[in-house]
Amino acid sequence: MGYKITAKRDLSPIDYMVEVEAPHVARSWKPGQFVVFILHEKGERIPMSVFKAENGKVMMFIRKLGKTSLQLYYEFNVGDELYSFLGPLGKPIKIKEYGNVVFASDAVCGHAENYALLKAMKEAGNYTISVQTFEDKNHVYPEEFLAKSVADEHYLTTLDGSAGIKGHYLDVVKKLIEEDKVDIIFAGGGLRNLAKLAELTRPYGIPTYATVRQIMVDGTGMCGSCRVLYNGEVKFACRDGPVFDAHKIDWEDAINRNYNRFIEQEKLAKELYLK
Ligand code: FES
Repeated sequence: MGYKITAKRDLSPIDYMVEVEAPHVARSWKPGQFVVFILHEKGERIPMSVFKAENGKVMMFIRKLGKTSLQLYYEFNVGDELYSFLGPLGKPIKIKEYGNVVFASDAVCGHAENYALLKAMKEAGNYTISVQTFEDKNHVYPEEFLAKSVADEHYLTTLDGSAGIKGHYLDVVKKLIEEDKVDIIFAGGGLRNLAKLAELTRPYGIPTYATVRQIMVDGTGMCGSCRVLYNGEVKFACRDGPVFDAHKIDWEDAINRNYNRFIEQEKLAKELYLK
């Protein structure tokens, strides 16, 4: 049996949303956890962040980045089925009362996590603040897919200032810290900015948790691909994370592993697919 696609739409020129019928995952998924899907019998395993999981369906945000994400975008439509859908994987984030909870995101995976976590944190009695950064006004998601609908305060920034505040989430978070509005912060998106966020919050001793994206293969702690150096120890993002205390991550190693491996292979696979 496959997993039926129940909805699909564009979020921006580069990102899209896909909803899949997968009651076994929707039932037990919690913020912080991810899923792995396989398009067809010979397909690769693709780890993905979840925007929401309700009523037996799991909604994901995906960037048109490599061969599989393009294939899903161009060749699979509502009513079609995915070959496999695994999850939930990884460790959930502890939902409890922290006070003021901030979530900052600047890329597709982070934007999905922003909504999911703040919704749960608000239900747990926290004051929630979302900060979302997009490249420009054309890349801002439709309103119902922003964390705006679940956060008590929402800041939208664009790098060129064509919508919302001009700048990056780092600028807004800095201001929020100065205003003493951050009790704990979670963040997801580009690793280089997560590393900067860790340095920004460190002197203030603000608990800071980041989703550490690493290239995953099996997604279950068996292959070692998603290794991260955490507090001087080797951990696996898929099994021990993907959310870690950002102050204990060796960011240089994480960035190096994530951006410099398989670049040529991924480029070639994408080129061959688009030919
Ligand atoms: Fe293989 Fe994490 S993906 S160990």
